[in-house]
Amino acid sequence: MTTDLGFQHVFKPAGALGAPTLLLLHSTGGNEHEMLPLANLAPGAAVLSPRGQVLENGNARFFRRLAEGVFDVEDLKIRANQLADFVGAAAAHYKFDPSRVVAMGFSNGANIASAVMLLRPGVLKGGVLFRAQVPLEPDPLPALQGTRVLISNGEMDPLISEQETERLARLLQQSGADVEVHWQPAGHHLMPADFNLAKRWLQSI
Ligand code: MLT
Repeated sequence: MTTDLGFQHVFKPAGALGAPTLLLLHSTGGNEHEMLPLANLAPGAAVLSPRGQVLENGNARFFRRLAEGVFDVEDLKIRANQLADFVGAAAAHYKFDPSRVVAMGFSNGANIASAVMLLRPGVLKGGVLFRAQVPLEPDPLPALQGTRVLISNGEMDPLISEQETERLARLLQQSGADVEVHWQPAGHHLMPADFNLAKRWLQSI
């Protein structure tokens, strides 16, 4: 663990030559260790796992919110750019390929991942978004051709409606991304089906 490069983080080098780097982004109240077990969904990949820098009642997040589901968009823009810069700095420091970074984020981590895609196209080659919402709607839309996104949301999630999920998928698709949406018989928590789906999807990219 190190506090270098702007974010407290964990980095694990790739176990296989030419493997991608998995950017793990935790949920509210998590930290750089929360998502590490999910790295085994992409065997051989390098792992970069930062800790969100906002504290909400002691809980770490990647950006501020005004209320549950109501995001502080100005703060989100600043934080998404900081995270994108961190990924670039980490690529130079640890010498991984910056064009092969795939995010895997849960809840608040999924929302900052899609914000990075929408605000800084090219930083992420793709992402697995677990329990994801619309982070912001940039105008004009970015060019996300070649970016692949897997959204895995819960049918019974009290925080994210079906319409919200569809709006996120549409936003990314209209920006040119290749988007797959999957529904789990779940709420806001993750379940084994999320991991099986993510593993298959990660193998395919
Ligand atoms: C959360 O619990 O973190 C929210 O549902 C997602 C967010 O605030 O980004």
